[in-house]
Amino acid sequence: MTRILVTGGHSGIGLSALRHIIAASHPSLPPPYHIILLSRDPQSSIVAQARQDLVQTSQRFNSPEHASNLFLDVRQMDLSSLASVRRLATELVTQFETEGVRLDLLLLNAAVAKANRNLVKDEDHQDWKKDHDVLSDDQGWYEETACVNHVAHLVLLHLLSPIISKAPSQASDGEQATRTFDTRIVFTSSALHSKLKNLDALDSYFSRSSFQSSDPWSLLDTYAASKFLQMVGIRSYRRRLEVHLGRSSSVEVIEQTVPRIEVVAVQPGFVPQTGLSRESSLLKRLVMTYLLPLMPFATSLDDAGDCVAQACYRPLQDFPTTTTTNASTGKPGADPSRNQDGYNDDGWADDVESGVKSRLLAKKEGVLVSLSPDPRAGDLRLQEKWWPSQLSDG
Ligand SMILES: NC(=O)c1ccc[n+]([C@@H]2O[C@H](COP(=O)([O-])OP(=O)(O)OC[C@H]3O[C@@H](n4cnc5c(N)ncnc54)[C@H](OP(=O)(O)O)[C@@H]3O)[C@@H](O)[C@H]2O)c1
Repeated sequence: MTRILVTGGHSGIGLSALRHIIAASHPSLPPPYHIILLSRDPQSSIVAQARQDLVQTSQRFNSPEHASNLFLDVRQMDLSSLASVRRLATELVTQFETEGVRLDLLLLNAAVAKANRNLVKDEDHQDWKKDHDVLSDDQGWYEETACVNHVAHLVLLHLLSPIISKAPSQASDGEQATRTFDTRIVFTSSALHSKLKNLDALDSYFSRSSFQSSDPWSLLDTYAASKFLQMVGIRSYRRRLEVHLGRSSSVEVIEQTVPRIEVVAVQPGFVPQTGLSRESSLLKRLVMTYLLPLMPFATSLDDAGDCVAQACYRPLQDFPTTTTTNASTGKPGADPSRNQDGYNDDGWADDVESGVKSRLLAKKEGVLVSLSPDPRAGDLRLQEKWWPSQLSDG
């Protein structure tokens, strides 16, 4: 059984990716599937449609005798409510520990783009009281884009760590022998993250000192900034994961006790017609829905889903590396001094000692390749500053 947890899996790119994962039935993520869809409104008609869509996909791509190849499990979780994230995570850990199983794939795909600044509150008073940081005030308030696109997914990962970083079971399912990871964690990223020009924007949009600000708020700029914040969080998480798993001097010890965890960020391309633009003006939405999808720079929903799906199942060594130019020397190769967290030209450094591997993937000329991440997100001070303080002990 392949166990998949997904946020934002009932619509847009996330749903398209699930269709492709089921259709591909790749040896890394083979059927049967237990897919846990995390949705803020499990009873909504859009979730019902997604359910029907995935069942039909499973029936189309798997033989009729395998009609029971898909077990869809829709759970309530709202990423703008950290209390709901904690509740769901606790429930899942209890269930998975009781069943003695682990998660094979986490597809962290949900996101929002807000037309106005909106604050959301962490209702777990005891937790936030002493833990307020740059992202939250002493009343437990967060800016919503930062909470949904950055903080909540990290809280979820942190709390699910017992069923992610659990030692691999011996003589486990055949599927584990044929793939390169025990758990893969895939974040849907955006190329817009590297368009953020001024890092001060992070403070002016998302820090607690900005909560009462009347400065202009732009949906596109704040969304791009939140996706930069997401990259900072992903790299910080990946670095902390290595520390958490510890290092070992012996290959045998690693193979027996350390789970192989792969952390992947994937940029699916520009898909104008998804629900992400729902808070834009009517005119913009009409343009995004009917005009921009026809433009050569737009990516179809199906292609974007395929791209995210490949990031979920294909072995990392399949993705060719693109060569970057070092801005200071003008020569090929990233500047290691600007990538303090261990980044190198071949993607993030694969830490063989801890079993963690990571990549940033995007389509270039029709092929999914491994990219050099924006070195600014490797800044350790930035990673510390924007790491939710409530997770610092973990
Ligand atoms: N579209 C693009 O051009 C593009 C480009 C690059 C990257 N991306 C990324 O692709 C991912 C998917 O976006 P999309 O374009 O497919 O848009 P979408 O259809 O609007 O998908 C966003 C998903 O996130 C869910 N979500 C939003 N707020 C949530 C919350 N508080 N709690 C739980 N779930 C929540 C939405 O569920 P509801 O139905 O409840 O709202 C929806 O399923 C995002 O990470 C986005 O940043 C998109």
